[in-house]
Formats: sequence, structure tokens, C-alpha cells
Amino acid sequence: MTTLIVNIKQLCGVRKETKLLRGKELAELPCIENAFLLIENGIIAAFGKMDKLSKSELCCKNKIDAAQQFILPAWCDSHTHLVFAANRDDEFVDKIKGLSYAEIAAKGGGILNSANKLNATSEEQLFELAWKRLEEVAQMGTGAIEIKSGYGLSVEGELKMLRVIKKLKEKSNLTIKATFLGAHTYPLAFKENHQGYIDLIINEMLTVIAKEKLADYVDVFCENGFFSPDETEIICNAAKKFGLKTKLHANQLSLSGGVEIGVKLNAISVDHLEKMDEKTIALLSNSNTIGTLLPTAAFFLQMPFQPARKLIDAGCAIALASDFNPGSSPSGNMNLVIAMSCIAMKMLPEEAINAATINGAFAMELEKELGSISVGKKANLIFTKPISNLSLLPYSFGNNLIDKVMLNGEFISH
Ligand code: NIG
Ligand code: FE
Repeated sequence: MTTLIVNIKQLCGVRKETKLLRGKELAELPCIENAFLLIENGIIAAFGKMDKLSKSELCCKNKIDAAQQFILPAWCDSHTHLVFAANRDDEFVDKIKGLSYAEIAAKGGGILNSANKLNATSEEQLFELAWKRLEEVAQMGTGAIEIKSGYGLSVEGELKMLRVIKKLKEKSNLTIKATFLGAHTYPLAFKENHQGYIDLIINEMLTVIAKEKLADYVDVFCENGFFSPDETEIICNAAKKFGLKTKLHANQLSLSGGVEIGVKLNAISVDHLEKMDEKTIALLSNSNTIGTLLPTAAFFLQMPFQPARKLIDAGCAIALASDFNPGSSPSGNMNLVIAMSCIAMKMLPEEAINAATINGAFAMELEKELGSISVGKKANLIFTKPISNLSLLPYSFGNNLIDKVMLNGEFISH
């Protein structure tokens, strides 16, 4: 099927060349005013200025008039925990009442709370819940998404989560990557027996994951009180033998050594980065590893935001993601992520949009098919409501400025 979109007020994120953006390049968002976009079988076939279209081309296509609308690539959300059994709003209220993280954990809260609920929920039910969330984030402009396991913490639970993600991949029109996060926290039974749990991950989880092709990446929560850099290295090296590249939870609560180990392992990305110093920033900037910032998690946990400006100015390649999960970011709204990045982390709107599209695609190794308006890439597009300027997206935080979302050349239903 051929679709021609005409009279686009601005077509944004148009690129001939696909490259990971760092430093000053992150602020460059190439746009074409008064543009057309041609889609063939869900793939971008051509684009350019309206006056380059001939009369014959204009007359006979399945035509969409996008007057007043900006069109940009759909969001590439490269870090989420979208499969979970239940919200944790009870903990949220406890926190408001003044309970500390430790007190909440002592009441059975936190990741272990989510794991208990997940292990008691069927695969079918988890799928239904995740499917609904996926539809919701697609309405908000997300076209590609990474989803982690990590609320199973048992062989059956982790495999169940990954099978749900596999089914989502097969049935959804979003592009999905799966990450194995069995090393999210130590389950109670292994609190004093770390080696026992690491053995379980390597010998009983990774073997099945590899056999059933259930994951694209491995992730570890490298943090004081969770997994040490040495433990992280052992798990990631074992996963590498099964073909899984690394994405890490690093430097969320402390200078945990996560960035150092991520760079050493040539990780695709190190994610969170609330706690960074000059040394870790320099190390990251001299590496191929992407720093993925999750501002809504910092906001929800009331932690200092990630030092986005310092990271960008030092030349680090950064991406933005939602961290959608029931504990630290119960929202998968990438528009809010972008608004917070501009308002609280002083990113320019162009920087935030690039970090949430092309650099997000790189953080999922999807840069050849997504993240920009380029010939040959999937037509995953956001159509804005009538706006005068792209800065209105972060400026109007909390307001929905998305009119329609197209995935693989077709509008998704409301
Ligand atoms: O990315 N930090 C580790 N994992 C999640 C939160 C997990 C939870 O609280 O359920 C995160 O913030
Ligand atoms: Fe996370």
C-alpha cells in the first residue's frame, strides 16, 4: 500500500545518515518545512519539500493532508519494566506519610513485593495487563520499546515474564526488545547465598533463555546492597557466551562502579546515572556506551536529576527513557520524560527529542530501522496537534499535543 502525506507544516528528524549523536550534534534536529512524506508498505519511501512533488504524484495516491501538523519519529523508549502484576500505590502512600525506603522494604515492599505478586499471577493475566500498558504508551507516541524481566527472581517467574515479552513481540505493532534482568535483587532465600543465586541465573535461567531465544540483552542492577561490580561482571560475561549484550542499571543510588563495569564490558548502555562524578563522566564520554537518563524515576523517588548538561557537554552519547515500572516510575509517558528533561535537566527541546528518538533507537540497536525520518526506515510517526513550534511539546507539559500516531504506516486506533 502507498500513502502520501502532504502539506506537513514541519517534518522533523529527517536524516540521510544514521549516527549516534553526542555533544553539540545532539542539538541538531533537521526539519523540512511544508513537506511531503511517501510511505510504501509501512516503510518511508521518499520525503521532501511540497514543491518537489509533481502534479501526477499528487493526484493518485492514498493521500493524507497534514496541514498545521508537525510530524516526527515516534519515541524509542529504551528502558522499561512494563510487565508487572500490580501497582505499588500502597507504598506510595506510605512514603507520603513519611516511611523510609528501609521501613517500606521491611513491610515487604519494593522489588520483592512486585516479585511476590508476579509469581502469583498467570502468564495470560500478565500478558493482558502488559498489552493494555503497551497500547497506552503507543497512544502517547511510543513506537519502539525495550522491556525487562526482573520481577520473577525465580526460574519460573523470570521465564514467565520473558515469554510474555516474546508474545508481546509477536502480536504487537510496536517494535520490542527483551532484556533479562534476573539480577534485579537477591530473592530472600538467597540473601546470604549470593553465589547460589548467581549459579541459578547462569545454569538454570540463561540456558533456557538462550535455547528459547527469550532475550536480546542482559541487565544487572549494579548497586550497593544489590549486585556488586564483580557479581555484575560474572553474570554479564556468562550471558555474553549465550549471545546477550549488556545494558546495566548503573549509578542510580551511589557511585556504585556500575559505569566503570559497563564501559569495561562494552555495554550498549548504562542507565539511570543519578550519581556521577567527573571521573565517571570522562570515562563514559570516551566510550561507545550510551548513557540512558531516566528523569521520571529521579522525580518520583525525589532524587537529584541526572546531570544531563554535564554529560552532553563532556561528549557522552545520551538517550532518554521512561523506566516505566511500579516502584520508581509508574508512567511510560515519554512526553513527560521530554518535558522533565528540558525543565529540570536543562536540555534543549531538540536535544531531548533526539535523545528520545535516534539515540534511543541506538540504545536498542534499532537505528537501522527506526529513530529518524529516513528512506528505508519504518513509518513510525507522531502527528502533532496544530502547533507553532516544536518547543511547545516540553513547554506544555502534562498536555497532550499528539493528534495521531502511525506505526508501520498505519494509524493506531484511539
Ligand atoms: O529502574 N533500580 C532498579 N529497578 C527499577 C525499580 C524497581 C522497583 O522499585 O520495582 C528502576 O528504578
Ligand atoms: Fe529500570
